[in-house]
Amino acid sequence: MQQLHHLLAYWLSSLSLVSAQFQGFNPFGNNELTYTIRVPQGTAKSSIGPIYFQMNSTRPVEWLALGQGAAMHGSSMFVVYTSGENVTLSPRAGTGHYEPLYDKHSQASLINGSGVHNGVITANIRCDGCSFSGGGTVNLSGFFSPWIWAIKYGAPLNTKSLTARIAEHDVFGTFFVNLTKATGSDSDNPFVNLDKTSITRAFPEIFDHDGFDRKRTAHTVLMIIAFVLLFPLSALALHVLPSTQIVRIHATLQLFTLAVTVAGFGLGVAMAKDVHLLKHHHAIIGIVVVACLVLFQPGMGLLQHRYFRKTGSKGPFAYLHRWLGRIMIILGVVNVGFGFEITGIGSSDVPKGAVIAYGAVAGVIAIIYVVIVSLTRRRVTSD
Ligand code: HEM
Ligand SMILES: *[C@@H]1O[C@H](CO)[C@@H](O)[C@H](O)[C@H]1NC(C)=O
Ligand SMILES: *[C@@H]1O[C@H](CO)[C@@H](O)[C@H](O)[C@H]1NC(C)=O
Ligand SMILES: *[C@@H]1O[C@H](CO)[C@@H](O)[C@H](O)[C@H]1NC(C)=O
Ligand SMILES: *[C@@H]1O[C@H](CO)[C@@H](O)[C@H](O)[C@H]1NC(C)=O
Ligand SMILES: *[C@@H]1O[C@H](CO)[C@@H](O)[C@H](O)[C@H]1NC(C)=O
Repeated sequence: MQQLHHLLAYWLSSLSLVSAQFQGFNPFGNNELTYTIRVPQGTAKSSIGPIYFQMNSTRPVEWLALGQGAAMHGSSMFVVYTSGENVTLSPRAGTGHYEPLYDKHSQASLINGSGVHNGVITANIRCDGCSFSGGGTVNLSGFFSPWIWAIKYGAPLNTKSLTARIAEHDVFGTFFVNLTKATGSDSDNPFVNLDKTSITRAFPEIFDHDGFDRKRTAHTVLMIIAFVLLFPLSALALHVLPSTQIVRIHATLQLFTLAVTVAGFGLGVAMAKDVHLLKHHHAIIGIVVVACLVLFQPGMGLLQHRYFRKTGSKGPFAYLHRWLGRIMIILGVVNVGFGFEITGIGSSDVPKGAVIAYGAVAGVIAIIYVVIVSLTRRRVTSD
């Protein structure tokens, strides 16, 4: 019940406004890294004051960094490396594609919660001179703020020196923060007891985030309805409804479900293009599953239907149709989980409860499916 409540809350929150207070960024393909940004209301109102950000790495690194701006040149950078169980924050000024050097004018400092905790490197940073327009004040609402990030893997620098030499990054990128979504109440340390459900996702490019969120919600709802409910239940219809028209009903229902799936698929492909995720395993599995379902399922069903009319028995197509269908439904259900993973399990968009609820519903339907199929098979063989 609790889980269903979560699932419902998740769908509703996707439709209405959640109280977003942080923008978070996980570079695709670098799940070990999390950047979280927070603008206190006071700063947002007066366009001047502190801002806060958090850098996490679940993997040891030589250094990791965050910088304001869209490129190295002119960026105020915050390079972090470990020193035993502590972390060192070295603010640096970017001058181009060179090693950025220590910036003694920076007013950024580490705040409580920084350090290495169970292998997770965390730097909680308060920055007082971090404006968003190179000095002046700026109206923060509706403003996308560009940030750069970079990471260098390897042996930890293990130093307290602020001027330590750093080697060139292994991976780097840019992301854009919607400052309205990063704004929350004033607090001296917003990362104490950080509630991950108040973090919304920032993206590597400027685009319509709210439109993307609507696409994502529709994609999720269509795919869950198709794979968890409609495909299995229309397959079960063959077993439970004793009607001469049953094959026709089954075919009609499944063609309708296929249409739902294709609609969800279109949204998925559009999103994967937006965020360059077409090569992610979630996208690849999705493409394979939908292609198999569209290309083979109706055809094989029809061929078996003809075969049955001629011979009155099951041909090879019946088994292909049945097993391909079952395998694709299972893959589809699992793939919804990979989709949750991309968005971030435990985030505001996909609370853990929603994932558990999803698993529970899918599990119950799987049990019902197996029970009904084995019961009716027994009935058929004992006839
Ligand atoms: C030893 C230190 C560093 C060196 C030698 C270095 C060098 C370079 C080079 C050669 C490129 C061009 C790469 C390409 O186009 O393939 C580049 C790009 C980039 N670097 Fe660095 N980098 C350093 C530190 C950093 C730091 C600390 C950050 C993040 C805060 C960063 C963020 C970026 C980003 C976002 C780009 C792409 C945008 C741009 O061209 O400026 N780099 N860097
Ligand atoms: C880490 O920082 C704390 C407080 O500044 C200090 O007491 C401790 O000695 C430091 N540990 C190391 C390994 O440098
Ligand atoms: C920092 O956090 C620790 C526990 O995580 C707490 O004991 C300590 O009092 C805090 N220090 C400050 C200055 O808030
Ligand atoms: C970052 O790591 C700390 C533990 O070091 C954790 O408390 C915090 O929730 C993490 N932040 C995110 C956004 O995962
Ligand atoms: C900031 O911009 C928004 C919309 O662009 C506007 O509604 C608001 O009044 C502006 N605030 C200030 C202080 O100029
Ligand atoms: C930033 O987020 C706010 C709140 O969700 C939204 O109204 C606004 O349109 C977003 N800004 C842009 C430029 O998308």
